[in-house]
Amino acid sequence: MAQYYSRIMGWGMYAPERVLTNDDLSNMVDTNDEWIVSRTGIRERRIAAEGEATVDMSIHSAKQALEQAGISASDLDLIILASSTPDYLCPPASSLLQDRLGASKAAAMTIFAGCTGFMYGLVTAAQFVENGAYKHVLVVGAETLSYAIDWEDRDTCILFGDGAGAVIVSRSQQPGGMQSMVLGSEGSGWDSLILPGIGSNRQITEETLAKKEHKLRMNGRAVFKFATRAMTDAVTKVVTEAGLTINDIDLLIPHQANARIIDLAIRRLGIERERVMINLDRYGNTSAASVPLALCEALDEGRIQPGDNIALVAFGAGLTYGACVWEWHGDKTENEAILVTDWPVSDTFSEYAQQMRTTAWRMQVQARTKASDAAMAVMLPLYTFQKGVKKRLQQFEDEQ
Ligand code: UT7
Repeated sequence: MAQYYSRIMGWGMYAPERVLTNDDLSNMVDTNDEWIVSRTGIRERRIAAEGEATVDMSIHSAKQALEQAGISASDLDLIILASSTPDYLCPPASSLLQDRLGASKAAAMTIFAGCTGFMYGLVTAAQFVENGAYKHVLVVGAETLSYAIDWEDRDTCILFGDGAGAVIVSRSQQPGGMQSMVLGSEGSGWDSLILPGIGSNRQITEETLAKKEHKLRMNGRAVFKFATRAMTDAVTKVVTEAGLTINDIDLLIPHQANARIIDLAIRRLGIERERVMINLDRYGNTSAASVPLALCEALDEGRIQPGDNIALVAFGAGLTYGACVWEWHGDKTENEAILVTDWPVSDTFSEYAQQMRTTAWRMQVQARTKASDAAMAVMLPLYTFQKGVKKRLQQFEDEQ
């Protein structure tokens, strides 16, 4: 039986024209550029035009991806659209996209997995092409978060932005593509990031509207804590399962939520920033669109070359997480006549060496994570205590 591999044949992205800067936000809520940049790394984000919805943005990115892959919409077997902000709760936005693309023979599904949605979609697409069921799958991550944001809530409105990114995952007989994956959910954190007033649990009433329950709410600290742990664990797992160490990863593409989350995770993983794709300064957190937007920009900037191993990782509402290692198609070593691993004896030897290297790296990451968690556990109460003292001193001075 033929063995199939997954291959990303085309990619495309779309960011709405309107730019909302930190200074613009400081005219809307009590915030400032310095706070936003130092706490998040975000400088500006894109906002959809009036009437521009998730499927409108998806179309742009999907058409680019199809063109680059050299296939037409009628060649698609499946469309996966990941979004927490679909045009409607019913019908699925993926069917709207299918109709507007003219992808008449494609099946269509919408994935709700928060900011991890694109990772769930990519992994699902890879399964379908690797098992031979489908030839071409379109995966889109797209969000119009601007409509779900409470623009008076400075905890959330500074973070999010709109956009869309797409890839075509195709069946290939050439080795490469997805090497390992992990998908997960810690449902106990379901209320850390929530749009409480839309859904079968809660009818929309005047009261829910007045309480702004149709807008996004977030426990930022809880998500932050989960994010750093989930990202570190997920990347460690997929890199190990691919038989690699972090040194073998040419580029890490993380969910673009907060530069501090990324920095903490990459410090624990032991990967330097030069090998990490970051574009959140220009787009903010675009949820399910964030990983494909970063992937597209990395490709367009030439940061991914044939034969490269890239790691993609995301986390989000649910609380969900997902990661994979993807070997970019093409052969880095095609000019080398005989590889070291081609020799039967050295092959066995290098397998053991690789296993030892992987184990040593995994232990190192675990130790680093435990050490920084312990430091955090000590520093946090101290910090809170100091803040209390400072506040009391301030009150005392004010009373004088
Ligand atoms: O895709 C997943 C989506 N979500 C995330 O990834 C969010 C993860 N969490 C975060 O990124 C961070 O928790 C935030 C960026 C949301 C907040 O950063 P933080 O360092 O956790 O800030 P904080 O909530 O602890 O607030 C620190 C201070 C507070 O003032 P006091 O109590 O120290 O006087 C806040 O009132 O900063 C204040 N603050 C602000 N100040 C200016 C909170 N938001 C703002 C703001 N502008 N926008």
